[in-house]
Amino acid sequence: MKENTLTITDNRTNITYEFSIENNTINALDLRQIKVDKDDFGIMSYDPGYTNTAACSSKITFVDGDKGVLMYRGYPIEQLAEHSTFLEVAYLLIYGELPNKESLEHWEERVMHHTYIHENLAKLMQTFRYDAHPMGMLIGTIAAMSTLHPDAKDIHNPVSRQKQIWRLLGKLPTVAAFTYRRRIGRPYNYPDSSLSYTENLIYMMDYMNQGNYQVNPILAKALDTLFILHADHGQNCSTSVMRNIGSSYADPCSAMAGAAAALYGPLHGGANEAVLRMLTEIDKVDNIPGYIKQVKDGKLRLMGFGHRVYKNYDPRARIIKDIAEKVLEVTGRNPLLDIALELERIALEDDYFISRRLYPNVDFYSGIIYQAMGFPVDMFPVLFALGRAPGWLAQWLELIDDTDQRIARPRQVYTGQMKRNYVSLEQRN
Ligand code: SDX
Repeated sequence: MKENTLTITDNRTNITYEFSIENNTINALDLRQIKVDKDDFGIMSYDPGYTNTAACSSKITFVDGDKGVLMYRGYPIEQLAEHSTFLEVAYLLIYGELPNKESLEHWEERVMHHTYIHENLAKLMQTFRYDAHPMGMLIGTIAAMSTLHPDAKDIHNPVSRQKQIWRLLGKLPTVAAFTYRRRIGRPYNYPDSSLSYTENLIYMMDYMNQGNYQVNPILAKALDTLFILHADHGQNCSTSVMRNIGSSYADPCSAMAGAAAALYGPLHGGANEAVLRMLTEIDKVDNIPGYIKQVKDGKLRLMGFGHRVYKNYDPRARIIKDIAEKVLEVTGRNPLLDIALELERIALEDDYFISRRLYPNVDFYSGIIYQAMGFPVDMFPVLFALGRAPGWLAQWLELIDDTDQRIARPRQVYTGQMKRNYVSLEQRN
């Protein structure tokens, strides 16, 4: 028997097929050989939510859900969180290697050179209602960027692609900060490119003409590390959207607006906001058992718990938990952390969660840090989007250059009505 092959016998015809196995995967198109009649379409696989379907091959991020392993371009997330910076990790994800000193300095200078947004965008953001959710503003403004940079459509031109990457990474913190300033009805603070990436973000959000204003370096570093932890995660929902939109050769601004929209959902990047609202609703440690009962009765989901891939502790949640302690030493204890720690302890002893292999994910503790740092809850998904932006761009680039890739167009299993004739209004009951 040949190695690395799969033999399938169709019991309807008693015909046996042999398919090659590569990377522990079969090519889905091979299944179309399996037919009853020669004119049949052939066998498809049915996989809502793509729980067992690889839509691409990728060299960017490795995740082992059973072992709780996460690596960017082969570097363990724990080492990058400890030793690297967000812009250095962004370079690694996009170009595949850690930059040398000269490349890093050029990269940082180019990104920080693109922090200003067009005044048309700044004015457009003023048209959002005073209570517009920051994620809605972010999504709309990223999409609008495509109208100001038509050269972004030139996606097969490496020089243009490079410029869009600098532009998007440079401008996203400015747009994020402006959504916050819009919300609180305060004038924009324009970017200060002499600051680091996260110092600049905090400055643009926080500065209110205080004398001798300084961004707290511990908070800026903590935010930089949080962005590293969020920078990429393989084919998650929002990255799959970035790839799907990119597969039609739309520009990267439009693709990223779609990715941010997917991230906004409470099952994905919106979970960090949902976790804070959940912890606030629980309010006291004594209320935890009652809340857990509602979850086990299927009435609620424990936000920040569970993951499609991690069936072990999300390695990012472990790191974030450590960061929380450092941040709270600066900002003061957040009582919600005590509720979160007790909720985790109880859940991890409860068979409902153990049997479903539900552990804290990246969103469980991140919101506690963001709140302690003074970010309003509805800014949390925006912060997730800022962290994920280099991952979206790295995956988009990989898609564009992948000769295997075609426009995304899944099949369906049609279960609706077959042909029937039109019925006039008079004849309908
Ligand atoms: C992110 O994909 C990524 O990589 C995402 C992400 C990234 O970096 O991009 O890691 C970021 O989105 C993290 C996830 C944030 N979302 C949440 O914290 C929301 C709460 N979590 C769940 O809704 C859920 O766990 C998902 C959406 C994360 C995963 O859903 P799956 O894989 O489709 O699992 P499922 O919904 O089929 O659940 C399997 C079982 C079900 O029970 P049964 O119906 O079999 O009895 O587990 C239960 C679910 O009811 N379950 C939960 C639960 N999550 C799953 N029960 C209670 N609370 C939960 N949080």
